[in-house]
Amino acid sequence: MSNQVKTIVVVGAGTMGSGIALTAAQAGIGAVLVDINQEQLDKARAYHTKTLARAVEKQKLTADAAAAAGKKLCYVTTIAETKNADWVVEAASENPEVKKKLFRTFAEVFAPNVVLASNTSSISITDIATATGARASHVIGMHFFNPVPLMKLVEVIRGLATSDETVARTMDLARAMGKTPVSANDRAGFVSNRVLMPLINEAFYAWMEGVAKPEDIDQIMLLGCNFPMGPLRLADFIGLDVCHDIMMVLYRELGNAKFFPCPMLRQLVTAGRLGDKSGRGVFEYPAKG
Ligand code: CAA
Repeated sequence: MSNQVKTIVVVGAGTMGSGIALTAAQAGIGAVLVDINQEQLDKARAYHTKTLARAVEKQKLTADAAAAAGKKLCYVTTIAETKNADWVVEAASENPEVKKKLFRTFAEVFAPNVVLASNTSSISITDIATATGARASHVIGMHFFNPVPLMKLVEVIRGLATSDETVARTMDLARAMGKTPVSANDRAGFVSNRVLMPLINEAFYAWMEGVAKPEDIDQIMLLGCNFPMGPLRLADFIGLDVCHDIMMVLYRELGNAKFFPCPMLRQLVTAGRLGDKSGRGVFEYPAKG
């Protein structure tokens, strides 16, 4: 395997972390999923088991390959249990203070050559790297997309101090995981969310101003622009709170009123209508049995 990465530690067992761990395991790389919340780890394990079983059932994977991927996965509740790993991907909550605290710990726990990557969707890599002191050259953004096993892209974000070697190793690892890496500079929202979130925000304005009903806005974008999901359905899928928070990062960092979250989006978030995860956002979702 290129890059010689044998074991990746993935910190945070939410949707993104569990998808990243599964993708690594399917590529033959050991993945240690860390979360302080045992319930979250149990959910991730159930997702892995179900996804691998389904792939076998659908003849997309042999039973042996699924078993081999299953053996590459393990689940722990503390970072201390993972210190022999040779790569870290942080996929914890989108809070700069939480991330900086984790990166401070990574710099203490992991060997000097270990790359410390963040799956952040909009927080500055340069800022996160400040928590690691002399390790800033090994800090990089590795932005995966949901659902990770299906989405081809890894947006690779270079902070001000990230070394060329770290960028090259990250590109290699993304390819070894079956992804296509594309690089972007460390500006708010990078490329993906700088472009996607204002589009989603505009769909909320179109709804709020009565340009069309939400289902029709989505249908127009599905059929007219070949989107795989309409922008409002996609917002629910991503999480309306996440969309809101990313818009606020763009607004604050880029200082332009065009990035301010639409009042309709703000109101739904205030009401706790967060999308798929809360059962209701723009649309309603039946509880999963
Ligand atoms: N994990 C593993 N497998 C999954 C999965 C998941 N989370 N979700 C779906 N699949 C599998 C399904 O089981 C199904 O497998 P089978 O063929 O064996 O049944 C297969 O994938 C296709 O599933 P669907 O029929 O449900 O899929 P679809 O053809 O409707 O496509 C989709 C689903 C890929 C999600 C598609 O709707 C899509 O591309 N949507 C847009 C997604 C997108 O834009 N993501 C980026 C969001 S932005 C982001 O993540 C970054 C950020 O910073 C906010």
